[in-house]
Amino acid sequence: MENPARETIDTSRPHPARMYDYYLGGKDWFEADRQTAEQVVARFPAVRTWARANRQFMHRATRTLAREEGVRQFLDVGTGIPTAPNLHQVAQEIAPESRVVYVDNDPLVIEYADALLRSTPQGRTTYLEADVRTHDLLADPRVTGTLDLEQPVALSLVALMHFMPDESEPYALVRHLLDPLAPGSFLVLSHATADFDHVGGTDEIRSTYGSHGISAAPRPRKEVARFFDGLDLLDPGVVVGHRWRPDEEPRLPDEEVGFYAGVARKP
Ligand SMILES: C[S@@+](CC[C@H](N)C(=O)[O-])C[C@H]1O[C@@H](n2cnc3c(N)ncnc32)[C@H](O)[C@@H]1O
Repeated sequence: MENPARETIDTSRPHPARMYDYYLGGKDWFEADRQTAEQVVARFPAVRTWARANRQFMHRATRTLAREEGVRQFLDVGTGIPTAPNLHQVAQEIAPESRVVYVDNDPLVIEYADALLRSTPQGRTTYLEADVRTHDLLADPRVTGTLDLEQPVALSLVALMHFMPDESEPYALVRHLLDPLAPGSFLVLSHATADFDHVGGTDEIRSTYGSHGISAAPRPRKEVARFFDGLDLLDPGVVVGHRWRPDEEPRLPDEEVGFYAGVARKP
């Protein structure tokens, strides 16, 4: 089937989803993405480690919620280009009836959406191309047709909010997404930081992204923790990503991970 989204993909400008795919060693990027990503890698080689550790945090958080907290509904905003295992595969391996709505504003992601839509027969997955800043997700019939908002939902904002500078009111945006969710819902969030950067690498990354029109806003721990205000943080709280319930003793230095992560329950 012809995909109308294809015509809207601007391959001449780098985009965060495709640059992230490049860091992860994927194949779904264009030359403009590669060039800009290489500039970032040259100044900040740890970005690849960061991307992998971030993906692994998403796996552990999803597994924890499915296995230990009984969550069966997931809303994943800023999904990215599919990289197996995707969130629904992680959740459905534990609970095949899990339902997942994926959202991303990069038209390229929909090209690969079939990988996101291969649900178990018992569960369901849906994909929406939308900008979370301007689209009222929780009023969208594709969301409400997949998720029962009377029941808990895990809202995943994994490596998303650092693309939202303070002017776009990121805290209000997260509240707006959480407010309609049932008590017992969860927020899963990871966020880049410059807290461990003693050589100015993150400033350079910010200016590399910025020169291509992409806002990057790494935040200190206190500001990342603010996203969880009013929620009950699961142990171990807001920590450097590889320290969130690791499968094995973390070996990497925190500087090489460079992002914070946390999971919290809505009371
Ligand atoms: C760094 S990737 C993270 C992908 C995935 N969540 C992960 O952590 O592996 C950030 C994703 O957020 C998407 N994104 C950025 N701004 C967005 C917005 N305003 N609305 C929806 N998606 C957005 C990008 O297209 C990209 O796919």
